[in-house]
Amino acid sequence: MGGIFGVICRDNIPAGVVFEGLRRLIYRGYDGAGLAILRNEHIEIRKAAGHLLNISKQIDFININSPLAVGHTRYASRGWPVYENTHPLLDCSGRIAVVGDGIIENYEEVKLKLEKAGHVFKSRTDTEVAVHFFEEHLRKKSDMIEALISLALELSGNYALVFMVAPEKKLYFVQHGQPIVIGMSPDKNCIYVSSDLPSLYGFADVAYIIDDNNVGAISLDTLEIYNASTGQKLDLANIQSKRVKYMVEYVEKGGYPHFMIKEIHEVPDALINTTLAIMEKYLRLSSMIVHGARKVFIIGTGTSYHAALTATYYFSELAGVSVIPVSAAEFPYSMLENVETGTVIIGISQSGETSDVINSVKLAKQRGAVIVGVTNNVGSRLALESNVYLPVGAGPELAVPATKTFTSTLTALLLLASYTGIFAGKRTMQDHKLLIEEIREFSRKIKEYIPIIEEKAVGISNSLKNATGVYVASSGITYPIAIEGALKLKEAALIHAEGYQLGELRHGPLSIVAPSYPVLVIEPFEEQAHPLFLKVLGELETRRANVISIESKLKTKYCSIELPRSSKYLYPISSSVALQLIAYYAGVAKGLPVDTPPGLAKTVTT
Ligand code: AGP
Repeated sequence: MGGIFGVICRDNIPAGVVFEGLRRLIYRGYDGAGLAILRNEHIEIRKAAGHLLNISKQIDFININSPLAVGHTRYASRGWPVYENTHPLLDCSGRIAVVGDGIIENYEEVKLKLEKAGHVFKSRTDTEVAVHFFEEHLRKKSDMIEALISLALELSGNYALVFMVAPEKKLYFVQHGQPIVIGMSPDKNCIYVSSDLPSLYGFADVAYIIDDNNVGAISLDTLEIYNASTGQKLDLANIQSKRVKYMVEYVEKGGYPHFMIKEIHEVPDALINTTLAIMEKYLRLSSMIVHGARKVFIIGTGTSYHAALTATYYFSELAGVSVIPVSAAEFPYSMLENVETGTVIIGISQSGETSDVINSVKLAKQRGAVIVGVTNNVGSRLALESNVYLPVGAGPELAVPATKTFTSTLTALLLLASYTGIFAGKRTMQDHKLLIEEIREFSRKIKEYIPIIEEKAVGISNSLKNATGVYVASSGITYPIAIEGALKLKEAALIHAEGYQLGELRHGPLSIVAPSYPVLVIEPFEEQAHPLFLKVLGELETRRANVISIESKLKTKYCSIELPRSSKYLYPISSSVALQLIAYYAGVAKGLPVDTPPGLAKTVTT
């Protein structure tokens, strides 16, 4: 898996372009980076294991001095993060280079056949089979497109591949379930191929989003795309193209030391943007679908799953609908059997590319389910697979730990639950409009509070940095927020943390609480849970625990962070921001690369 960024220019590629493209794709993996450059009709490889920004001190990613190059930033899913496994990978002749994203599932079986045919493998990656496969087919067939089509038909899995074949001034691609976008510069002097749209900001103004199972050839003057199943050439006019219109501040840190803290500061605006991004006609349609469903599952993974958990409270109270939350990674095993006509799946994924979500959605569709997608990526596979989708208006999120996309996704789900409540006769349109007003007012309030919370979070983070572990606990609508807060501590601060329901904390977990094992608690919004909250605080004091309490109403003696008053539905957002800031500053206090935690990638596409 990884990020792909290739360029063909009329003259030499301007200095720094490929490096900048790869830097923007770093969220897709940072276990190695490399470049294939066409030089004097031969392929030159520059690559090393490690984070692009570290290895670029020894390897020149800036000065290409050639009109053709393709780069890659790697997430090591098959094969250790070492030089040999870093992309680009070469065929036996050294005439073909490949970079890839995703997983080729049948690579072992294909590799055996190719080895029998005399091919020599140098890496342990699955991607290397693609370059030898291509080489083998080119030996037999002279036509590149035919070879690409055979490859797409024979290699299974979800992957995207880009090939350079010396001495051609072209790039060849296969899109087999992993994203590929192709962008043109406004002056038509350069053409780009990349794993995402935001990486093209400032380089291309129009981009084609390539569909699944398409292959093709890219040159400066022609773009040929074929459907691998039918072999037919596609008409470019029918391919979804998009203007690349992200603002520069979206892809830069804007004066902040990390993307994560920048993105937390963007939470308030992202909430408002989400209310603006969701058009009423789509909200209405999605709500009608949910209201008319015989059963509703809500799925996502990681942070998006935690948004799903929170949304169950929204749907239950505002619309009287019981939605069943399931991790998209578990859905095929636990709930798929119960999917039938009349089932609705609310699929959540900020990237819209998470394979567990796409896989579950596809399986559910085969059984007759209707899909309502919620995503921050409008050109994503989730958006394409959904019958209707709601856009989350958070803007690109580059830090691996999700922050503003989580709070914006909560907003989108809140609006969906509220509108469904209108169909259910539990709310009026006036109630819904007031909710939108409330979100906007809340956004202004939370903006004022962020610097105050931030100051407290810096102090708290110092007491967390040497913790052996942390519990994050709450009850009611902030119980899922406790689980999400624990995930943020793991990612940003590399602290083992567990999210617990307050009552559950008393059924075993309390036994390891000690001064070195702090407990972060979020005051429950629900008054019925306050006696439990106070009882647990007392028990923690007895164990001399380091209690860090986030509160809004009660203001107990343990209160460390005071949040602004809000309605129950927005309290999960303010408490999330507090936990995000604590996790961020705990990571900073430990000197960690908070934007790019080790062993992770922003999107798990394999
Ligand atoms: C969030 O901080 C994590 N990086 C991760 O759990 C993430 O939420 C998960 O992989 C799902 O991603 P998605 O929303 O893009 O589908």
